[in-house]
Amino acid sequence: MKMLSLDETKAGMKLAKDVVLDDGRILLLKGFTIKTRYLNKLKAYNVPFVFVEEDVAKLEEISEERVYEDAFTNIKGIMESIRYEENVDIIQLKETVNEMVYHILNDDMVFMTLTGIRDIDNYTFLHSVDVCIYSVVTAKALNLANDEIYDLAMAAILHDVGKCKIPLSILNKPGKLTGEEIEIMKRHSINGYEIASQMPGISDKMARIICQHHEKWDGTGYPLRLKTYDIELGARIISIADVYDALTADRVYRKRFMPHEAAEYLMANNESQFDPRILKNFINTIAIYPEDIVVLLNTGEVARVLPAKGMASMRPKVSVITKKDGPPIIDPYEIDLRKNPTVFVTDIIS
Ligand SMILES: [Fe+2]
Repeated sequence: MKMLSLDETKAGMKLAKDVVLDDGRILLLKGFTIKTRYLNKLKAYNVPFVFVEEDVAKLEEISEERVYEDAFTNIKGIMESIRYEENVDIIQLKETVNEMVYHILNDDMVFMTLTGIRDIDNYTFLHSVDVCIYSVVTAKALNLANDEIYDLAMAAILHDVGKCKIPLSILNKPGKLTGEEIEIMKRHSINGYEIASQMPGISDKMARIICQHHEKWDGTGYPLRLKTYDIELGARIISIADVYDALTADRVYRKRFMPHEAAEYLMANNESQFDPRILKNFINTIAIYPEDIVVLLNTGEVARVLPAKGMASMRPKVSVITKKDGPPIIDPYEIDLRKNPTVFVTDIIS
């Protein structure tokens, strides 16, 4: 192993030792492949150096992460250009989204671990990328044709494009919106339809999907109060991905839901808000707690999540590595949360 300063550390390198903060908390675990966002985290915590495996020749090319970053940069650029009435070119976005779909169709789990980056300033754009990923994973589980999945992905990443027409004072308001502001905010579906209809390469069906992403299964959504199968299939998929991702983010007016709580919320609203068949597929397919993330349990134990999918990942098996604020545990032990109903996740650490 060798010791590197943060400037010398690159994404793709493998940690040879745990990164432990001065107060004893583990930030990252030995064996972890460093990703760009973890580098940012190390900087934020003023970690001076890390130990990495010697064999940097085997540096993995983290192409999925590059694609995620590209998707974020592209959708951000497009939405900001529309806001300031500059010309937009969606060719680059289309290429990146196609690349993302291609990867997800081959292996959905890698992208799932990239979702959930929470950056207040970039919330709308990161949320758009995450909704795209969840929608594609769900569409794949529903066995949609590839062409349909590629179109759905573009509609999903653009689902909130209409927010470009919402005044920033309302969009970024720190606090609850008034009734009048909520009505203005709701216009983003129609705005989105109008904007997307003007974009080359966006079909009318894709624009309709964007328009309908806040419609609800029981007809209580907006803007047209459509019901059940009158709502485009793509919009029914995106609405589930949208609500799930939004619930798991901190907002100014409420603390975020833990992923299993968000999944429970969706299931509780099954048959009123969402298409039950799609919701079942969504819950059965996404990794609610993706492999390797580090979570805090209500027992004060800090644990790494072991691989699981769908319902099983709501209460996964975990490997306990330390106690909160305590030293690392030499011999990690496992807890199966499904067999220990009084133990649950209270926070996500990394
Ligand atoms: Fe929306």
